[in-house]
Amino acid sequence: MSRIVYVNGDYLPEEEAKISVFDRGFLFADGVYEVTSVIGGKLVDFDAHAARLERSMAELEMASPASRGELLDMHRELVARNGLDEGMVYLQVTRGAADRDFAYPAEATPTLVAFTQAVPVVDRPSARNGIKVISIPDLRWGRRDIKTVQLLYPSMGKMAAKKAGADDAWMIENDFVTEGTSNNAWIVKDNRIVTRHLGTEILHGITRAAVLRLAREAQMAIEERPFSLAEAKAADEAFITSASTFVTPVVEIDGQPVGRGSPGPVARRLREIYIEDACATAL
Ligand code: PDD
Repeated sequence: MSRIVYVNGDYLPEEEAKISVFDRGFLFADGVYEVTSVIGGKLVDFDAHAARLERSMAELEMASPASRGELLDMHRELVARNGLDEGMVYLQVTRGAADRDFAYPAEATPTLVAFTQAVPVVDRPSARNGIKVISIPDLRWGRRDIKTVQLLYPSMGKMAAKKAGADDAWMIENDFVTEGTSNNAWIVKDNRIVTRHLGTEILHGITRAAVLRLAREAQMAIEERPFSLAEAKAADEAFITSASTFVTPVVEIDGQPVGRGSPGPVARRLREIYIEDACATAL
């Protein structure tokens, strides 16, 4: 069944939606995006996603196409028009269409598109069984804190993982894990939860922030610092967080089992309390 998608103010059947061939998102990956999960027809962590979008646009000196309130209304309208109960809303803002030039155009109207994807987010086999990751060098650019649409290297990493019989890749820089191809990376050792500190080396995950807050509220011990690949392989547990995977256990790294090689209690508990909080606060 055809979806209704949003393009620059219009709600259209997906096959009628059109973007210029001169759009800088298409020509230069000059665009930013957000993925917001939907549970029970409601948006999870919407305000935090909208705030990060504003920051990404500001870092790239990109004009904002809509206010936060307008974006919320648009998300809700898309969810309603597509009868979406569970899944996600993808939103992308590009600098807009202009003659091809590396310099930003003096005036361009930003392009705003959004669409829904109906997928189970709460009950997933990967959450029950855990996922396997491989390690790959982190060869991305240096401003990973800006959520741009330049996702080719993460796509290559995902393909390398699949070819190796795994599900995802963790990226390594100077022996330390930066993050997953599309998620933040965590380990647990002796009941201490470790995830990399914020900086330009990783995306400031919205799920990461929510899980840290909930873990603190539950009096769990937390360290925000870099951890090495060797430390991850010797951990009791490992897991990832993102808007699409919430908290998902990692049971194998480079073919070696993490802990007992099955989902651990800390990841399970954090997933439960995250989903409970997400349902209670969704808009
Ligand atoms: N990815 N790190 C990277 C590189 C990401 O692409 C993502 C999100 C995250 C987690 O951020 P958040 O918790 O805000 O989703 C970390 C989205 C889900 C995607 O590209 O589909």
